Amino acid sequence: MGLRRVIGVAFAGSALALASGCGLTEDEPDLVAGKEAFNAKCGACHIMNRAGTKGTQGPNLDEAFRQALADGMERSGIEGAVEAQIDAPARLSKRDPVYMPADLVKGDDLRNVSAYVAESVAKRGKETGLLAEAGQPEVSDKPIAAKAGKLEIPAASAGLAYVANAATAEAGPLTITSPNPATVPHNIALEGGGVNEVGPVVEKDGVSEIKATVKAGQYTFFCTVEGHREGGMEGQLVVK
Ligand code: HEC
Repeated sequence: MGLRRVIGVAFAGSALALASGCGLTEDEPDLVAGKEAFNAKCGACHIMNRAGTKGTQGPNLDEAFRQALADGMERSGIEGAVEAQIDAPARLSKRDPVYMPADLVKGDDLRNVSAYVAESVAKRGKETGLLAEAGQPEVSDKPIAAKAGKLEIPAASAGLAYVANAATAEAGPLTITSPNPATVPHNIALEGGGVNEVGPVVEKDGVSEIKATVKAGQYTFFCTVEGHREGGMEGQLVVK
């Protein structure tokens, strides 16, 4: 598989989509697009150091492939294994509380994600250039302010994050909504000052909602899906 070797050479550069030069008409996979799709569709369930993802519902992918690589598996072989896993995960029953849905990515994205995982898994250190910037959730430090007792804290479209990790509100009745644009399930919950409210888990443009009466003080909002709070889906609500 000389085809994939080219990726290693071009990995940190700007020439990511160079033709392979082995007489194939197929384009090289796009690793930046692969990372974006990985972080949006896979990272909420899988740890992978290079991608910076922190999901814990599925196996740690670095650990899963480190031994195989040490035993002599080629990175091109990982690519095939990842594609096969995405096409037919089915190793856990659908009745299992956490299973990996099939066909999370298709077409070009399937190829790009598989190539990105093959290239990046079980590697130490940080990415550089375009790859380093790709697929990171944009989290604002600027607090979202509630208006007239309504506070909207959307989940980020990729990764384990809300769009902001701080919010403010006035004391009194408060409705918090959290639209979730991702295919990964999330919700919103609030605790502190005697409040303990948990909204429904939603995905694909669903909206999680809770209502509480809040007093002056500090509260924490977070996602209750396993591993998501620890992975970064948490922020502070300050009530004045
Ligand atoms: C909802 C959580 C979830 C999501 C999202 C998810 N996975 Fe998984 N994944 C799992 C679970 C659980 C397993 C272990 C059971 C299995 O193999 O189906 C797994 C297994 C794997 C394995 C096999 C690891 C091994 O130990 O052999 C790979 C590779 C993998 N996933 C890659 C991906 C990729 C790539 C994506 C994104 C396209 C993805 N996963 C999205 C939960 C998830």
